[in-house]
Amino acid sequence: MDRIRIHGGRALNGTIPISGAKNAALPLMIASLLTEEKLILENVPRLADVGLLQYILGNHGVDITVAGKRAGDEENAGQTFELSAKNIVDTTAPYHLVSKMRASFWVIGPLLARMGEAKVSLPGGCAIGTRPVDFHLDVLRALGGEIEISEGYVIAKAKNGLRGAKISFPKVSVGATHAALLTASLAKGESVIENAAREPEIKDVADCLIAMGSTIEGAGTSTIRVQGRDKLNGARHSVLPDRIETGTYAMAVAMTGGDVMLAGARDDLLVAALDTLRGTGTKITMTNEGLRVSRNGSGIVPVDVTTEPFPGFPTDLQAQFMALMSRAKGTSRIRETIFENRFMHVQELARLGANISLDGETAIVQGVEKLKGAPVMATDLRAWRNHGPPRLSSRPWLRAAGAEARPLRRLDRAGNRLIRV
Ligand code: UD1
Repeated sequence: MDRIRIHGGRALNGTIPISGAKNAALPLMIASLLTEEKLILENVPRLADVGLLQYILGNHGVDITVAGKRAGDEENAGQTFELSAKNIVDTTAPYHLVSKMRASFWVIGPLLARMGEAKVSLPGGCAIGTRPVDFHLDVLRALGGEIEISEGYVIAKAKNGLRGAKISFPKVSVGATHAALLTASLAKGESVIENAAREPEIKDVADCLIAMGSTIEGAGTSTIRVQGRDKLNGARHSVLPDRIETGTYAMAVAMTGGDVMLAGARDDLLVAALDTLRGTGTKITMTNEGLRVSRNGSGIVPVDVTTEPFPGFPTDLQAQFMALMSRAKGTSRIRETIFENRFMHVQELARLGANISLDGETAIVQGVEKLKGAPVMATDLRAWRNHGPPRLSSRPWLRAAGAEARPLRRLDRAGNRLIRV
């Protein structure tokens, strides 16, 4: 378990480069399973989940080369991956790997489509809710896969290959839409995906699949049409910027005050969240360099939000927004409609002095004048920043943003890494 020690109470100022989006990078890496040729991905973020997926894909036989750093490269800049799934040597993804990261379950469709078989562990529990995979299995069945569940594994077979079909989701699911897109790309004939997720990461993955030779229309809308191909080719694709990371830093600046440039960020990827943030009294301007976020000494205006699928306010920014609202001048109501258990951070914020009560799927946040430091637990990966081991030496942006950095290897007696913000 990592520990981060933070000395708070300062305004944030400076420039922070925004990484490639985790939620696009993971399915894009999985897309490499669909072709014998090389898929080159640029701007891949440096994250623990990416490292884990590298390992999982490696187990299936994917060769991954990570372009070396060149002199003058930013330590925190995105990586370039060359993924080659010429020979898939293993179609099983075991429990001890899939249970560590849910998105690794998504390998099942591409493996089934390319190899005619796959055995992938069910992902198991998750801190933010039950998160079933029934829609994913429906996708595989609709495309002609035979599915059996045995001893915690999904065993999928398609001896005669997959064929296009109409897939209509009862509820919007990002993961299941990715699964449908990826799998349908190698299924014979046309597939129509209805009630598809409209997240920008879906469009990014579709753009990459199109570069790989797939014909896809409507990605980014609720109906997507895919013309399956026997084979896909290699391609080069750059991962779009992470809108959740962007929103997280923007909310940090809104909370502390200050003036920060989020370099490379795009405002069109998080319109609802930025509008909400503007409502709190935060100034946000799109520039050629990225998104400039600032707040002067004025109080934080309370705003109510409800999480929704894109283009609504994202569930992945709910915890961060609650932290911001805990300092607002008044009461706000935050409703979580995507995951049923995504309020684990409430008790942790209360430890810092926040005044929050829960009423079913709504949190009522009464802003307080001051929060006070305390030991807290990061329950939900979005309630903190999951960049693998948090190494300050590889975080020049933290210093740029006004953090007073001590050398990375300095730990206090309790083993905490010391970071001053
Ligand atoms: C993705 C994102 C995650 C984000 C979430 C919602 C990635 C890697 N992760 O997760 O950061 O919080 O979208 O925006 O992109 N559901 C079912 N059955 C299924 C699948 C989903 O009932 O088979 C339900 C879920 O329990 C949830 C809702 O659908 O209530 C939406 O979940 P989904 O969009 O699938 O989330 P993920 O793709 O897992």
